Amino acid sequence: MRIAVPREEVGENRVALTPPVVRRLIDSGHSVVVEPGLGRGAGFPDADYAEAGAEIGPDPWEGAELVLVVGPPTPERASRVPVDAALVGLLDPFASEDLIRILIERRITAFAMEAIPRTTLAQGMDALSSQASAAGYQAVLLAAAESPRIFPMMITAAGTIPPVKVLVLGAGVAGLQAIATARRLGAVVSAYDIRPQVREQIESLGARFIAAPVDESVAAASGYAKEVSDNTQRRQQAALADAVADSDVVITTAQIPGRPAPLLISREMVERMNPGSVIVDMASRTGGNCELTRRDEVVDHRGVRVMGPTDLAGRVAMDASQMYARNLAAFIGRITDGNAELACDFDDEIVFGACITHDGEITHPVTRRSMGATPDDGAGAGGTTDQRTPEPDATETEERS
Ligand SMILES: NC(=O)c1ccc[n+]([C@@H]2O[C@H](COP(=O)([O-])OP(=O)(O)OC[C@H]3O[C@@H](n4cnc5c(N)ncnc54)[C@H](O)[C@@H]3O)[C@@H](O)[C@H]2O)c1
Repeated sequence: MRIAVPREEVGENRVALTPPVVRRLIDSGHSVVVEPGLGRGAGFPDADYAEAGAEIGPDPWEGAELVLVVGPPTPERASRVPVDAALVGLLDPFASEDLIRILIERRITAFAMEAIPRTTLAQGMDALSSQASAAGYQAVLLAAAESPRIFPMMITAAGTIPPVKVLVLGAGVAGLQAIATARRLGAVVSAYDIRPQVREQIESLGARFIAAPVDESVAAASGYAKEVSDNTQRRQQAALADAVADSDVVITTAQIPGRPAPLLISREMVERMNPGSVIVDMASRTGGNCELTRRDEVVDHRGVRVMGPTDLAGRVAMDASQMYARNLAAFIGRITDGNAELACDFDDEIVFGACITHDGEITHPVTRRSMGATPDDGAGAGGTTDQRTPEPDATETEERS
């Protein structure tokens, strides 16, 4: 299969394939063409791709059977994916209506890596987790760089500096990595998550679990948190207010798949923090966990800096790309046969779960609903009524702890 890797959109430093993964794919019988300068932002020169066996081609789209990307291509670039080819990437399908229309028009078989079911079997393809780990790590480094304080305790002839207090809200993949990173830097860390079962994981990393409302029901269901009522949100804010006021750094990661992020930190709570404190809100893409967060901006509110970066994984582009490329290679193994030809088995829950469009139709029920289509009209695309793809919050059939 001819695999093409075009350059990413401006602002995205990560790449879909790294030279070692190119080598693996070529060894499995594929050919790979990459656009010149592809890996510049991630530290992979063209020469490394060429040495791994890739062709460096100014028009990688031409003749491609499979196009690999990190973020969703613009509609203009998506129009360059050859008709009937396949496209794989973090396609953000719920926010990309124009892209979906082009995929339908061009009969592209598109797979969104974020829609891969988070089962044990799909662990090696779980790009959400690999990128969240990189982002959680980077969020703490960003906070450390922005904070006027030194993270670890320092005993010097000029006196003792106490360690920084870091609070992490939401202890999923990104939050746990943030806790571990802050601990490595010597901070005193506390954390909170609405899922009671993560208490043990928080404590095993040497952080304190904050007593605030938890939702016992999520332990029994899919393992994912659900949207909470306004009343629970108010109780959460009241229970967290003192911990937020007492922290030098707050990293927030709380999200609910397919829903706006829960509001955990109000303006009043920020106003109780000391000047010089820093909030890094990792949920800014879905609205933010802090009332003052603005996506991709830094808001200075009475000396407290509230940051809402959405490019955290891209700031550690080399390693984030290494992990993402391995996730992709594992997925490519799932959609190809022994002759390195595209062979999608839509009875495979991983393949079907990740598929957004195929043969001119939206195959992904949640994407179809987000396009405003009823099950019968298929978004003007011949629509299937097959509902096998699980809801985003019900994808976990074999939960990993
Ligand atoms: N099976 C697998 O292979 C696999 C892989 C990765 C993650 N998971 C599971 O996915 C789930 C979450 O993973 P994620 O990191 O993608 O989560 P996420 O990014 O969707 O959310 C981050 C965290 O925010 C928390 N949260 C949501 N609402 C909250 C609120 N109101 N207050 C406080 N915290 C709130 C969530 O519980 C979650 O821990 C976990 O159950 C995890 O074990 C499973």
